[in-house]
Amino acid sequence: MARCFVLNTGAKIPSVGLGTWQSEPGAVGDAVYAAVKAGYRHIDCAQAYANQKEIGVALKKVFDEGIIKREDLFITSKLWCTNHDPEDVPVALGSTLQDLQTDYVDLYLIHWPIKMKKGAPFGAAGIVPSDIPATWAAMERLHESGKVRAIGVSNFSTKKLEDLLAVARVPPAVNQVECHPMWQQAKLREFCASKGIHLSAYSPLGSPGTAWVKEVGDVLAHPAVVSTAEKLGKTPAQVAVRWGIQMGHSVLPKSANEERIKANLDVFDWSIPEDLFVKFSEIEQVRLIRGDFWTHPEGVFKSIQELWDGEI
Ligand code: A2P
Repeated sequence: MARCFVLNTGAKIPSVGLGTWQSEPGAVGDAVYAAVKAGYRHIDCAQAYANQKEIGVALKKVFDEGIIKREDLFITSKLWCTNHDPEDVPVALGSTLQDLQTDYVDLYLIHWPIKMKKGAPFGAAGIVPSDIPATWAAMERLHESGKVRAIGVSNFSTKKLEDLLAVARVPPAVNQVECHPMWQQAKLREFCASKGIHLSAYSPLGSPGTAWVKEVGDVLAHPAVVSTAEKLGKTPAQVAVRWGIQMGHSVLPKSANEERIKANLDVFDWSIPEDLFVKFSEIEQVRLIRGDFWTHPEGVFKSIQELWDGEI
């Protein structure tokens, strides 16, 4: 199994990246440093995770120490919802580049198909109607500037991708969405494949430890995952990561623990055999990150059905 997938730009995206969502300040820098030392070549960041400055310090350290060169690392970041106005897009990127201490990112994503008032705090109250074509045109200009090697989106439904493709001069290279054995995104995956859009998987372990897991279930405790892990002598987390790359996704497990960071990358010299792999398609599907926090009866998105265009 390749360690990289090829994007529609021709660039390679490493198939396992370190997730940094909910990676605490004070721990995320060590996690990034440990990950690069362990062989990770892909770090997934976002302005909204409020930890990019510390990641930037860790990245400077790995470059200064000669552990790797900048061109050997794939760095993703994301435009937050309060910066969708076209004039704000380059400013937001500029601050992200400054925080990450780099001249460019390999991939820049619209974090959500949601626009919020400038400076609004997280939540449905700050949402205003989006103008994705205008925001995307600003993303295209960043792409032309060379400060962003590829542009893409995150949390877009099939319908929202279709609408974007209808106006895009530069098609999105990536749609980064929740994806794991319990939420496999069958319809979206097929659509992305048909349009040459790479699917990148966040919460690939099902985000154990979050409140959502208690409501909908734990991927790492799912019988199909656990029994596969037992048969192969691997951990459930390794099986979840391996499942993702065998599906053709790049996979972004978050960990701030050095042992787990290493273990989550140890997925290349073995595979899930076909007879076990097919069983994953029978797993009951449930969306973990439902996005209820974006909905309000009088808001732009009145329900999660509207947010995800029925893909729920
Ligand atoms: P920790 O940072 O302490 O390792 P996801 O990427 O799906 O959002 O999941 C991230 C969560 O999974 C974090 O709470 C992380 O905790 C935990 N985690 C990461 N790797 C493993 C692993 N190999 N086994 C169990 N839990 C893991």
